[in-house]
Amino acid sequence: MVNPLFQALEALYVFIPAFAANSAAVLTGGHGKMDFGRNFVDGKRILGDGKTWSGFIGGTVLASILGLILYALMLVFPIFVNYPGPILALYGSALLAAGSLTGDAFGSFIKRRIGIQRGGKGYLLDQLPFVIFALIFATLFYYQFFASVLLNLPALIILIVITPPLHKAVNVLGYKLNRKDVPW
Ligand code: CTP
Ligand code: MG
Repeated sequence: MVNPLFQALEALYVFIPAFAANSAAVLTGGHGKMDFGRNFVDGKRILGDGKTWSGFIGGTVLASILGLILYALMLVFPIFVNYPGPILALYGSALLAAGSLTGDAFGSFIKRRIGIQRGGKGYLLDQLPFVIFALIFATLFYYQFFASVLLNLPALIILIVITPPLHKAVNVLGYKLNRKDVPW
């Protein structure tokens, strides 16, 4: 029998690009508003200035490259034998990253609707949509592998439970390093 803790760790390892995409978007972001500056029917911005195409695309590209590095690490240290080959590592990481940033934009969409300004604290809206969307994207487009690695109860529980504190830790770090204006 596979150890559930080991399964969860493996899922976390596979999931790293989904986390990294958000941080990478902070580095590459700032150019080309995703909502083209437009308002929704409620007169508020659709997504706001915090969601840009350069963040979305740059975040996806950098996180995909990270997926290749994670693959290469598994060649040197074959701990997680289920890790895919280079093409699927690249494809899977790109999906996780694009899903993650789509979920991030979805969180912003909801934040704007309930009146939270761009950059305002969204609590779980900053922290959970990206995980859920990354899982959905991965499942829709890459079912075989993610069904075996990600879609198991210990892995999902750990991902959902560990993400809010991890997200917070990364943002506090970004704030301390002056990459972000606010620690959330
Ligand atoms: N970013 C970007 N494009 C994205 C995601 C993020 O350019 N698709 C950049 C923006 O500079 C953004 C920063 O990363 O300000 C931090 O991301 P996030 O915290 O998600 O955005 P917020 O500015 O907090 O905006 P929101 O309230 O909409 O979440
Ligand atoms: Mg924010």
